[in-house]
Amino acid sequence: MSTRNIKKGKYAKLRKFETPEELPEEYASLLKKMLFVQADTEFASVQQHLEWQEKAPTAEDKWILSRIVTDEVRHGLTMTRLMKEFGPEGEAMVEKVLSRKIGEHTLDSFNIEFKNWESVVAFTCLVDRVGIYQLEAFHECSYAPLARQMPLMLNEEKLHIGFGYNGLKKIITDDNYPGNKETAQEAVDFWVPRALDMFGHSESKNAQLAVELGIKRWDNVTMRDRYYKEIDQICQNLGLETPDINANRKIL
Ligand SMILES: [Fe+2]
Ligand SMILES: [Fe+2]
Repeated sequence: MSTRNIKKGKYAKLRKFETPEELPEEYASLLKKMLFVQADTEFASVQQHLEWQEKAPTAEDKWILSRIVTDEVRHGLTMTRLMKEFGPEGEAMVEKVLSRKIGEHTLDSFNIEFKNWESVVAFTCLVDRVGIYQLEAFHECSYAPLARQMPLMLNEEKLHIGFGYNGLKKIITDDNYPGNKETAQEAVDFWVPRALDMFGHSESKNAQLAVELGIKRWDNVTMRDRYYKEIDQICQNLGLETPDINANRKIL
């Protein structure tokens, strides 16, 4: 349960902010940027998944993928609703985010089309898991309207990563399912560096400011390290090699 008072940072113990009008200027400008990136990733992942709704290997996979797409649309619209609260500037940002296509998104992971089913499920297991870290970081957000959205979004994302993990497991263990251990490893090797990059630069001033303002709970390094430990365990459970934390990385 999120609380009514701010827990951490320079506004600790004060009431959480409820409207854009209450926000100090640097706070509002950083929050808008973060809402934009969040919305952008949600709509981007819809674009990436759409063609696989029909190409998924089993009827059950098709239905679950449809559910994931619907959830991501809902998450994107939740973010745009929060952006619109910021008046004409927010409205303009919404228009911009809604018009973006694959290739135009902020984060690299969302500009890539899936080349096979292994890539779809590895993305869902690994990249959606980064999303969970970001949402958990917002869980106690000092901007209450954002904090309130987190419990439901987190529940939905947990379904997505479960689907991704089970998909990888089936690829590795089920002979009647597409792919095999080698192709699963290839997909994991492809997505892990991109997922690790998604946490952003280790020295990011914006991330540090977000912690100071109570928007996020943790900085980029803390989250990336925790994430890496988690996926290392997941790879071990699947009998796969975990790529080195620095291998093929672009954002360090
Ligand atoms: Fe999402
Ligand atoms: Fe998701």
